[in-house]
Amino acid sequence: MSEPKTLPYAVKTECRRYDGRVAIVTGAAQGLGRVIARRLAEEGAAVVVADIQEERVQRTARLLQEETGRPFLAIGGDLSREGVADEMVARTLAEFGRVDTLVNNAAALIRMRLVDFTEELLQKAVDWNVWNTVRCCKAVLPTMIERRYGRIVNIAGEAWRTGAPFHTLLAGVGKGSMVGLTVTLAGETIAQGITVNCVSPGGIETAADGDPDPPAASYRDPAWTGPGVMEELGRIVGQRGISMGRFSHPTEVASAVAYFGAPEASFVTGQHIGVSGGMAMI
Ligand SMILES: NC(=O)c1ccc[n+]([C@@H]2O[C@H](COP(=O)([O-])OP(=O)(O)OC[C@H]3O[C@@H](n4cnc5c(N)ncnc54)[C@H](O)[C@@H]3O)[C@@H](O)[C@H]2O)c1
Repeated sequence: MSEPKTLPYAVKTECRRYDGRVAIVTGAAQGLGRVIARRLAEEGAAVVVADIQEERVQRTARLLQEETGRPFLAIGGDLSREGVADEMVARTLAEFGRVDTLVNNAAALIRMRLVDFTEELLQKAVDWNVWNTVRCCKAVLPTMIERRYGRIVNIAGEAWRTGAPFHTLLAGVGKGSMVGLTVTLAGETIAQGITVNCVSPGGIETAADGDPDPPAASYRDPAWTGPGVMEELGRIVGQRGISMGRFSHPTEVASAVAYFGAPEASFVTGQHIGVSGGMAMI
């Protein structure tokens, strides 16, 4: 594998905003979720990493615990299924006694022309990009409301507001509803000590995440994105001449997530920030 190009942009931290805190990061077996989990642990958190890839998430928890010296708990399962998110929160409370921060990062990167979706894939795209987040928020709210404290950070992506082709389900429906959910849930919980905010990455070089055994690609079935789709997407987006012209190192995104998820972001709710090198502005 070639050396990642974004290593010079890797963000390090001296912050300790999560001492004594407990965070849950979904979709954290690999990629951005793994980097967010490591960042929150580096800042002092005990971290629950949840993912549908059961073996990989166990391994990730073990490695990150060794790397950071912080406690990790791995939970496997499809978070879009009824009961899985409730179980995740119950096990977190049993192990660590509280949930301060929930990062909804899990997603299924299904990019294809709308006309090419089968009924089954349509359903899966909505389950894995909408229902997982809704169920995780619903599961975590009772304990946050009871404690009158909580930070929820949703990971969207810029494609929903740049009109990127072939992103109708992933971004138009999935990330668009993530933004809507951020705003309405922030409104619903505004007097309960809970904040809900959203981070939209642009292109991330997830291969620069430091995983000693990185996956060959993002977690997706080869059948989800047909031949030529990513090449055509790259051509169309490339012609638009936007952004800083490079991918981000995943730690550049994790630092924004860590801010929204920390106690100090106490007067910020219902907000969205693009961490995308200016791919979209305001
Ligand atoms: N990589 C990018 O350039 C980019 C750009 C914009 C937005 N994003 C967003 O960032 C987040 C992370 O992206 P990534 O590139 O690391 O993706 P990834 O595919 O490498 O990681 C996503 C993780 O979510 C897990 N997951 C998916 N569905 C799940 C479910 N139902 N239950 C439990 N776990 C589930 C997968 O197993 C995987 O480990 C996603 O929300 C993605 O949409 C990524």
